[in-house]
Amino acid sequence: MSDFIIEGGQRLAGELPVAGAKNLALKAIAAALLSPETMRLSNVPEIEDVKRQLEILTRLGAEVSHPEHGVYTISTAPVRSGAMPRELVNKLRASTVLTGPLLARFGKVELSHPGGCKIGRRPIDLFLRGFQALGAEVKEVPGKAYQLRAKRLRGGRIVFPKVSVTGTETMMLAAVLAEGKTELVNAALEPEIGELAVYLNAHGARISGAGTPLITIEGVAEIGAGSFVMMPDRIEAGTFIMLALATASSVTITRCEPKHLEVPLALWRDMGAEFELGPASVTVGKARALQAVDVKTHEYPGFVTDLQSSMTVLLTQAQGHSLVHETIFEGRLFFADILNQMGADITLCDPHRVIIQGPTPLEGRTIEAPDARAGLALLTAALAAKGTSTIKNIYPIDRGYERLEERLLALGAHIQRA
Ligand code: EPZ
Repeated sequence: MSDFIIEGGQRLAGELPVAGAKNLALKAIAAALLSPETMRLSNVPEIEDVKRQLEILTRLGAEVSHPEHGVYTISTAPVRSGAMPRELVNKLRASTVLTGPLLARFGKVELSHPGGCKIGRRPIDLFLRGFQALGAEVKEVPGKAYQLRAKRLRGGRIVFPKVSVTGTETMMLAAVLAEGKTELVNAALEPEIGELAVYLNAHGARISGAGTPLITIEGVAEIGAGSFVMMPDRIEAGTFIMLALATASSVTITRCEPKHLEVPLALWRDMGAEFELGPASVTVGKARALQAVDVKTHEYPGFVTDLQSSMTVLLTQAQGHSLVHETIFEGRLFFADILNQMGADITLCDPHRVIIQGPTPLEGRTIEAPDARAGLALLTAALAAKGTSTIKNIYPIDRGYERLEERLLALGAHIQRA
């Protein structure tokens, strides 16, 4: 396992390009299963999660080529069954999304409790409910897994009692080839879902309402495939903006989509930060004392839970006290005790809420990255801290961020992979 060694306290400067969206690429790969034609993905982030998701497809018999950096072609015509390798499914929550196309195409798939970031229980009840609404039979099998069967999925009305991003995406993909009309009620609004629908419709699918709470899908017999360029990763862009703010650096984040960050930008402005927005860039203005604000995470377009970890770090450097209310996951605030070891003053009120008293100077420490987003948040804290930090076991960071140290070194950060 490799570590990051970080010398904190440096002001950073320069440009930080954002990679393609991880949480779109993982679903685009799943969409490749819906068509016998070859899909060509570009602007794909070269990260562990993408490699894992492609590995599952390859193990199922798909032909995957990697002609150049960030470009993959996928042909799933040779795939004959939906039997996914358990050891790979256990590494990746996004593998759940594969069950939608696999069930639609092969009429049989196993749904097990997927792995991925330890940020909460990550239940799959909404998936079982969705597949049953599409006519699948669900049988529990040993090992906390379910066998799903359906000769041919038929359209149905799926009401999500709570918003689920991958739940929405999985059912949308399954419904594309189902017989008849499917309605997803209380669907997630994330921009990646709209992008997926635009790609699928361009190749014969009939999806309307993606990006709204009601998505309607008219099933078709078959769809084609073609080129799919990944949109910028809004989570990477947001975490990099907070990395600049926490290190009092003026940095330009490029190749991003500012309109996906309107709510976080409003909150950062309330803290006193200043930005210059370009069509595909955000320049973080020169440092000024930041004021504390309260944050409540919410489904898109609210303050997205994936930015909460870095925001918690940023608030330790802001003047005053703030309440961070993480409404989506019950295990996403426990990394606060690592920040306290670095000198922060954070009180964990309950699994969903912390109160932060700032500003507190941070000291370098030897720490471990618990998940992708907390990993980048701790790296941000290490860059803002005085002295040297070692982040052990950085695989969780490599799951979500490509060539991170290379991009940070270009800004003058003192970071090395050991
Ligand atoms: C997606 O996870 C993202 N992952 C997460 O990003 C993101 O944090 C999350 O959406 C919320 O925006 C991918 O897209 C691969 P949910 P997902 O289903 O779909 C509960 C990252 O760092 N729920 O929207 O798994 C669940 O427990 C990752 O990139 C059920 O109760 O999240 C949570 O409380 C981390 N039953 C809430 O819904 C279910 O069957 C929202 O979860 C499914 C979910």
